Amino acid sequence: MKAVLITGGGSGLGKEVAFLFAKQGYHIILTGRNEDKLENVKSEISASGGKSSIHILDIRKSNDIVSLKNHIQKDYDLEILINNAGIGFFGPIEEIDDKQIIAMLETNVLGTILMTKTFLPLLKKQQSTIIQIISTAGLRGKVNETVYCASKFAVRGFSEGLQQELDGTSVKIVNVYMGGMDTPFWDESDHIADKTRLRSPKEIAELISNQYKTTKEIIIESKK
Ligand SMILES: NC(=O)c1ccc[n+]([C@@H]2O[C@H](COP(=O)([O-])OP(=O)(O)OC[C@H]3O[C@@H](n4cnc5c(N)ncnc54)[C@H](OP(=O)(O)O)[C@@H]3O)[C@@H](O)[C@H]2O)c1
Repeated sequence: MKAVLITGGGSGLGKEVAFLFAKQGYHIILTGRNEDKLENVKSEISASGGKSSIHILDIRKSNDIVSLKNHIQKDYDLEILINNAGIGFFGPIEEIDDKQIIAMLETNVLGTILMTKTFLPLLKKQQSTIIQIISTAGLRGKVNETVYCASKFAVRGFSEGLQQELDGTSVKIVNVYMGGMDTPFWDESDHIADKTRLRSPKEIAELISNQYKTTKEIIIESKK
C-alpha cells in the first residue's frame, strides 16, 4: 500500500497536508507525541473516506524512529516522507532558556536528520519524495528568532546537501520555505502581534501539494 509518513501530523500544517494526501489515495502514517491530536485527525480522514494510522513518535529519539521503521516497512511502500514537526521559542537571545535552545535544536535539526537517515532505505525502494518543511527563517536571519533561524538554516544546509547527494537516485528532496501560518505553533507566544495577517495552513498545504512534483524548492513569502 502506498503511504505518506508525516511528522507532527496532529495539528497545523501537518494535519492539512495529511487531509490532502489522503484524498489522493495515500495511506497516511500520522506521527507525533500527542495521541489525542492524532486520533482526531485520523477520525477526520476516515470520515472523508481516507485511510490512516497513528504512531506515537518523538523525533528526538533515535530508537523510537528505528522501531517505527521496522514496524511499518512490512505493510507499506513509503512514497513520501514529510519532515514537518518543529517547535519555536522567540525573544532576545539572553531571554531564551537553555532548555528551549536544546529543545529547538534537538527537534528541528536532530529530529529531521534522524528521520531522514532512518527512512531513506525504505524510500530508495521506489520513486519517492522527502518534503522538508523549513521556513523563511531558514533563508535569512530575523530579530528575536536567532536560535529558531539557526535550527532552520541547519535543516536547509542538510537538505541542500542531501539534494546533491541523492541526485540521480529515486529519492527527490523538496525544500519548503514558508512565512507565517496561523497554527497552534503560536499558541504560547506573543512574538506575532497580528495573527490575522498569517496565511492559513490549508493554503500552504495546497501550494505544496500542487508544486512538489515539479520543483525542488518552494518559497512562499508572508503576506505584505
Ligand atoms: N506556523 C508558522 O508560522 C510556521 C512558519 C514557517 C514554518 N513553520 C514550520 O512548520 C512546521 C509545522 O508547524 P505548524 O505551524 O503546523 O505548528 P504546530 O501545529 O505546532 O505543529 C508542529 C507539530 O510538531 C509536532 N512535534 C513537536 N515536537 C515534536 C517531537 N519532538 N516529536 C514529534 N513531533 C513533534 C507537534 O505535535 P506533538 O506536540 O503532538 O508532538 C505538532 O503537531 C514546523 O516545522 C514549523 O517550524 C511554521
